[in-house]
Amino acid sequence: MNVMAIEGGLPLYGEAEVHGAKNAVLPVLSAALLCPKATIRSCPLLSDVWAARRILEHLGCRVSTADSERTLQINASSANGYGVPESLAGEMRSSIIFLGALLARWGKAHIALPGGCRLGPRPIDLHISGLRQMGVRIIEQEDGLLCSVDGTLKGADICLKYPSVGATENLLIAASLAKGITTLRGMAMEPEIDGLIDFLNRAGARIYHKGDCLCIEGVELLHDVDYTIIPDRIEAATYLSAAAATGGEITLKKICLPHLASVLPVFEEMGCMLKTKQDEISLSAPKRLSHVRSLSTAPYPGFPTDALAPVMAASLLADGASRFEELVFQSRYLHVNQFEKMGANVHMEGRTAFVDGVPFLRSARLHCTDLRGGAALVIAALAAKGVSFIDELQHIYRGYDDMPAVIRQLGGKVWMISSGSIRIGKRETNRKKEEFSNLGYTAGIPLTQTQGVL
Ligand code: UD1
Repeated sequence: MNVMAIEGGLPLYGEAEVHGAKNAVLPVLSAALLCPKATIRSCPLLSDVWAARRILEHLGCRVSTADSERTLQINASSANGYGVPESLAGEMRSSIIFLGALLARWGKAHIALPGGCRLGPRPIDLHISGLRQMGVRIIEQEDGLLCSVDGTLKGADICLKYPSVGATENLLIAASLAKGITTLRGMAMEPEIDGLIDFLNRAGARIYHKGDCLCIEGVELLHDVDYTIIPDRIEAATYLSAAAATGGEITLKKICLPHLASVLPVFEEMGCMLKTKQDEISLSAPKRLSHVRSLSTAPYPGFPTDALAPVMAASLLADGASRFEELVFQSRYLHVNQFEKMGANVHMEGRTAFVDGVPFLRSARLHCTDLRGGAALVIAALAAKGVSFIDELQHIYRGYDDMPAVIRQLGGKVWMISSGSIRIGKRETNRKKEEFSNLGYTAGIPLTQTQGVL
């Protein structure tokens, strides 16, 4: 078992670079199935990226790294498979995005149902109904979807009743090689969608905005492409939240400022000073944050659901009562029980969370419940008094490239503990790094030695 030990109470201070966006790289990797050769730069090192890579290899693509471990080269000319089994699809939600690519490439697909974070029901009805409009026959089986097309995919006028990110991506990819023109209304407008459009267009697709819809003129083939993944706005929001929660002062580099437009005002409301220039942002936090009056999540350009838990973590120590409302997913508060172990004061009413700021948080043994909830626990631990231990880190590995290294670079104290049983009583949680080994497990392992598990 891997455990992250965090000694809290130190303000984060310094500079760090944001990585490529998880939610941008995953659809691009599936779209790469349509290009003879795709070079994809700034791929974050994440378990979800490895899962997508394994799917591509299972489908017969050759995947390698070039000039840097964050540059992937995908040669899809050798691809020959159209099936994604449960063992691969179950690893992440985004496996469903391979459906559009498989149908565009082969006119058939057999794909198991996707995995991913447990955020309440995650239906795929919008993916299915849009693809059906494009002429796909879909048989919904207990364990997956069996899909086929007579001839080729056909362009269609599709109106999504909700701007689903995944459904928009699937339909964009499928429509790129469909016969005729597809118009998409009610689609998602997240920056990661623009990233995918950019990738596809660079590979020869014809996708453009017309009024309030997206038009996709199907082409016969895509060609080789070299593309760089956009910066991760959620990773940026996470480290800004960590700096705010700890009373720190940090600068994040390689960000895309417009993508953070709905997030930055919340930090200002909490009393942080922000300075921006081109692709950098600096945040300087007050000693104690002010509360957030009311914050609701919404599809882009609204406040991103993925940034809610990190900002909520910062509000735990704020002066006054904050109110948060999750309107994108049904259940996104799994981490709240963990906050309560630290002495946080959170009251839930359906999709709304009320946080009454407390003067301090105590360290605790914490379990990650999901990706963004896990990041929120790291933030709370960085702000708490004493040493906290966080397990179930596989959730964090899905979406944060080398999080311990980034935190260390910002002056935070974090250690990766690789194995052994953990007995944590009150006394033990307060022990320092050099004493961890007395508790029955290996301590103070430099991150470089734990890269394999990250
Ligand atoms: C993507 C992101 C995820 C983010 C989410 C919303 C990736 C890999 N993941 O997830 O990090 O939190 O967007 O910004 O990019 N829905 C339906 N029917 C469907 C599809 C979705 O009802 O067919 C509902 C979902 O249950 C959810 C809402 O729409 O309540 C948003 O889902 P969607 O936008 O599809 O999110 P994902 O693509 O799964």
